[in-house]
Amino acid sequence: CGIVGYIGNREAFPVLINGLRRLEYRGYDSAGIAFLDDGLKVVKKSGKVAVLEAACNNIKIASRIGIAHTRWATHGSPSDANAHPHISPNGKLAIVHNGIIENYASLKTALLSKGHVFTSETDTEVLIHLIEEVQERTGLDLAESVRLALHNVTGAYAIVIIDEDNPGRLIAARKGSPLVIGVGKNEYFVASDATPLIEYTKNIVYLNDNEIACVAYDGISIFNLDNIPQVPFVQELEMEIEMLEKGGYNHFMLKEIHEQAKSIRECMRGRVYPEQGKIALGGIASFDGLLKNAERIVIVACGTSWHAGLIGEYLIEKYARIPVEVEYASEFRYRDPVIRSNDLVIAISQSGETADTLSAIDLAKKMGAVVLGICNVVGSSVSRATDGGIYTHVGPEVGVASTKAFSGQVTVLTMLALYLAQLKETLSKEERSNCIHSLWKLPEFVEEALKCEDQVQRIAYGMLRSRNCIYLGRGCAFPVALEGALKLKEISYIHAEGYPAAEMKHGPIALIDEEMTVIFIATNHSYHEKIINNIQEVRARKGKVIAIVSNAGGEVAALSDEVVQIPHSDEFLLPILAAIPLQLLAYHVALIRGCNVDQPRNLAKSVTVE
Ligand code: G6P
Repeated sequence: CGIVGYIGNREAFPVLINGLRRLEYRGYDSAGIAFLDDGLKVVKKSGKVAVLEAACNNIKIASRIGIAHTRWATHGSPSDANAHPHISPNGKLAIVHNGIIENYASLKTALLSKGHVFTSETDTEVLIHLIEEVQERTGLDLAESVRLALHNVTGAYAIVIIDEDNPGRLIAARKGSPLVIGVGKNEYFVASDATPLIEYTKNIVYLNDNEIACVAYDGISIFNLDNIPQVPFVQELEMEIEMLEKGGYNHFMLKEIHEQAKSIRECMRGRVYPEQGKIALGGIASFDGLLKNAERIVIVACGTSWHAGLIGEYLIEKYARIPVEVEYASEFRYRDPVIRSNDLVIAISQSGETADTLSAIDLAKKMGAVVLGICNVVGSSVSRATDGGIYTHVGPEVGVASTKAFSGQVTVLTMLALYLAQLKETLSKEERSNCIHSLWKLPEFVEEALKCEDQVQRIAYGMLRSRNCIYLGRGCAFPVALEGALKLKEISYIHAEGYPAAEMKHGPIALIDEEMTVIFIATNHSYHEKIINNIQEVRARKGKVIAIVSNAGGEVAALSDEVVQIPHSDEFLLPILAAIPLQLLAYHVALIRGCNVDQPRNLAKSVTVE
């Protein structure tokens, strides 16, 4: 979900709507706005931000303070009633909320017994009722009432509240769900991430967990849940507005796919030194001792980041000979895992806000592990919760289906594998230097790989009516198969599965007939013969074969219906290069099928609830 709030000398409405549009990638089931204009006014609608904007067309809004929200439904279906903002029973307070109030059912029961009537199914409405109840019972001011009410709440939240009786301020609070405050000239912005603020100010304050901010026309004050004042720490944001625009492309996803040569270059800048045959990773250098002696690395992540982690496993084990386990953060956090003193935990997250990943970090830290992060969003919760880390630095990713963040994560993991090899001397100087030289050339290979787009678009037309696809690969190409399948299902809604190619015979082979498309990631030289056998097994059952190869011609080409060639390069670079045609394939299939590529149904860019 996305939050934006404004107080200052401009009209709030355009700032809020604009902010919602920038945040729409975080959720788009419903949207709403609340402002103070001769009393508290709320407009909310299920559907996209454009629907909300249209609903506000005939309303004159001169207010200079307001809050707005775009929702990804958790409690309650996407409806006008369930959309945020929610208002208190006396109609004076309005709240927008990200996260989940875990004990909302018991709070609701208590409030119901006191005669409260609810108009939605949301946990958020319960929270604002609770705040009003505390306010009325104690007679304290709003900020203090919010503080006391939050003592009764378990779960995660980022909230912003406006109050008809206190039209000169916003109250914001966070625990487990991000909130940033933009500091302008005589104006302040509050948002769930920095993207809606960047066109107005680069000075931001990240609110910490358990902090409450009072944001007034003339300044902000911050205190924590124990009422101890905190000094706001203003930071400068390194982000340009162009990074949030489509730059001539029809979709963010397509722009982000095409940005990958540049973003990988950025990711490697100041870290890869081909001349000296060295990798330097400043963000983790202080852990060199641990890295050298780590007995095991446990990677925790979700979604696409988990796929990147799997590729990391292959690379780190191969080059640095450290055993690696890759876990879904959501499983790790609940299954009582074993963490020993020489284990190193690495959390991977594009957004740095994924709730399950944050909880996994928490758990690992409680168990005494050093936790490093691989994040894209600078200053995000994961980057702040970890002991050190490596930013991917690929720039903001807006398309919900992750593309350049994935290649950035794999690039970081490749650098990490080589860095560990450097520390542990598990590769000869010459081997390492050769790898680093090849890695440095990766952006050129990526540019080359992107040239397959016209061919992939043509293949996509052939998949228009597909209902099922299987993606197969061996070695490092297996996680690429998983990622290719995820891309397709996320945005085109075609059912797709990724499998290790050799596993096909243990089940998926039963699905193969003339209607099944099987996409082979046949790039890895070392598995060449094996993959040919697997292709033959598919052909024998009349499946349609699309092969991604890194060598022209050959037997794979002869056996396949379609062959997409990516540049011939060292094997360890192939996961990134092979992912490119798969990203483009998902994009074009989705486009041809008329799907909303950047905002696929039911998904959100950053999942701040468990
Ligand atoms: C969501 C997104 C995915 C992403 C996953 C993990 O499901 O739609 O694209 O891979 O979250 O997100 P993270 O920000 O932690 O990498």
